[in-house]
Amino acid sequence: MSKQRDVAELKAMKRAAAEQAVLAVQSGMVVGLGHGSTTVFAIRRIGEWLKEGRLRDVRGVPCSSRVRADADRFGVPLVSLEEEPALDLTIDGADEVDERLNLIKGGGGALLREKVVAQASRREIIVVDETKLSPALGNRSALPVEVVRFAERPEREFLESLGARVTLRQGEDGRPFLTDQGNVILDCDFGPTEDPNGLANRLEARAGIMAHGLFLGLASEVLVGVPGGVRRLRPPPACASREG
Ligand code: A5P
Repeated sequence: MSKQRDVAELKAMKRAAAEQAVLAVQSGMVVGLGHGSTTVFAIRRIGEWLKEGRLRDVRGVPCSSRVRADADRFGVPLVSLEEEPALDLTIDGADEVDERLNLIKGGGGALLREKVVAQASRREIIVVDETKLSPALGNRSALPVEVVRFAERPEREFLESLGARVTLRQGEDGRPFLTDQGNVILDCDFGPTEDPNGLANRLEARAGIMAHGLFLGLASEVLVGVPGGVRRLRPPPACASREG
């Protein structure tokens, strides 16, 4: 299979998953809009359906400045969490999904807002292509950790003490990438993680760490684009903590 065909097939899988997620959106809903190359297809579809009148009065909460720009471009009205603190539904992407539907997120740098929005949502639909599925988190992605700039050095040393290989994320301009909150991201390669809950607890105890990309027990379902279709995954009963 040629590389060009690979890219086209990946895009088709992302698009199919994202567009299927939009079937869950109903008129009048407040919808969280995650950041990434997969969710952008959902934002575009919501905009199209609003324009056609198939959906009415849907408002989105954007998880990044980039999503805000995409929503404006596609004609999706936006609302803030101040105005609408409880969301009906969020559609978001992920960098890695394990068998319990735990996630690594933050490849696009929007992890903090994405987690706030996920926690504020009654239902969290994750949209991915099949390459994101993994037997254990950390197999395919480093873990993004958002750190306040003041604490960059001590938090880096803390993360290294836990066994991570740590890289300061760079922006396209070659300078440190800054999140929408003005923080840096340390991408932490821990390798496959056997105890994501334990790791999350340790990260959450640190004052300089504003957010990490482990999204545990937050996905209501995962829609996986596969060649020629979409698979729907639901969390195993013991992990299900949400409606869906
Ligand atoms: C944004 O910070 C991330 O959490 C994205 O949801 C994740 O990186 C998936 O992005 P793609 O859909 O572009 O792979």
